[in-house]
Amino acid sequence: MSIEIPAGLMDLLQGYTVEVLRRRPPDLVEFAIQYFTCLQDSRKHDRHVKERFADSTREGVAFDSISVESNEDEDSDDAYMPPSNPNKYSRRASVCAEAYNPDDDEDEDFEPRVVHSKSDEQRRRLQDACRDILLFKTLDQEQFSEVLDGMFEVLVKPQEHIINQGEDGDNFYVIERGVYDIVVQIDGVGKCVGKYDNKGSFGELALMYNTPRAATIMATQEGALWGLDRATFHRLIVKNNAKKRKMYEAFIECVPLLKSLELSERMKIVDVVGMRAFKDEECIITQGEKADCFYIVESGQVKIMIISKTKAGQLDNAEVEIARCSRGQYFGELALVTNKPRAASVYAVGDTKCLVIDIQAFERLLGSCKEIMKRNISQYENQLVALFGSSVDLKH
Ligand code: CMP
Ligand code: CMP
Repeated sequence: MSIEIPAGLMDLLQGYTVEVLRRRPPDLVEFAIQYFTCLQDSRKHDRHVKERFADSTREGVAFDSISVESNEDEDSDDAYMPPSNPNKYSRRASVCAEAYNPDDDEDEDFEPRVVHSKSDEQRRRLQDACRDILLFKTLDQEQFSEVLDGMFEVLVKPQEHIINQGEDGDNFYVIERGVYDIVVQIDGVGKCVGKYDNKGSFGELALMYNTPRAATIMATQEGALWGLDRATFHRLIVKNNAKKRKMYEAFIECVPLLKSLELSERMKIVDVVGMRAFKDEECIITQGEKADCFYIVESGQVKIMIISKTKAGQLDNAEVEIARCSRGQYFGELALVTNKPRAASVYAVGDTKCLVIDIQAFERLLGSCKEIMKRNISQYENQLVALFGSSVDLKH
């Protein structure tokens, strides 16, 4: 006897199962009622939005003006809002990090704007946490404020897994506080490959490339994060990345350090870089500080200045210029490669723009360039000996 499975049943159950595994609710029946009720509501809402869109395009009204307020504060802890179509984000069979083409994603133009209301105090904390997030650095003011509107606060407990390797991606996270281990399965064994210490962001890869989560992120202490849902991340960040690729593709192609990488690897770098502009004489790196990123000069120039001390202990607090870097050259790799504080200070010479790559992306994407960097690092010693004589030591 053959039993016909109704179309959509498997997907429906799979969506529910994934959410159960992700959220681990105490009461499965209660959670099922919530899940399917929300699903029904959001489908009704989707139909309504699409009808409005059809009406508004007929009337020539811009759909962007429709905004949806989601009142998080009123939600109970367990209240749950599933994606309007649980299968919409189902992963493509291939897990290669192919370029996202925003033109393929017509559906996203129907996405209403999500706004999570926040108190003034929450908004201030959120703005502080997002100030140095590289992925936000190439957004315009309006896009950035849409990102802030779409973010919601997530409090985490010690040992909590915020992301599990292999799962589908739901949110992108910005760290407000807390320390988080990055654990990657290597030959079946979980290895801690790095950590986020009270700053940074994670969870962008699965959302950018529609791949399973590439690492497990675990809180080692109590912490606070700001989440951004997948749809909003796509609409604002991933679409912006397509623009970034167009802007920086030609430049990245001619950075000597990156020549040995495949084109797709270079594009992955473009996807995660931030752009920072510096004014003449502005300090970019301070000698002795802890390092968390790496720079490539896009325009203008930087000068590398060093404070040295002799082996006899004699201090010389004046900074001496030891080198300059211009378009296509990099700096700030030494501390990341040696795991030591910054060995020199770096200042802008005139108005200068740099691409910035954070330490996690540096480790993940530039591992194969480290040999070239190490060769160049050995020249630094010669540079210093030529300038200060053989008895010089770097002041850390
Ligand atoms: P994602 O794959 O969405 O989820 C896990 C996140 O861990 C990943 O995005 C990155 O943001 C972050 N991450 C940090 N370091 C690594 C690493 N070495 N390999 C994979 N992911 C990493
Ligand atoms: P980092 O130590 O991370 O920060 C300062 C950067 O200055 C350093 O990385 C190098 O990229 C760059 N630099 C260039 N020349 C030298 C040098 N002779 N000694 C140390 N750092 C140098």
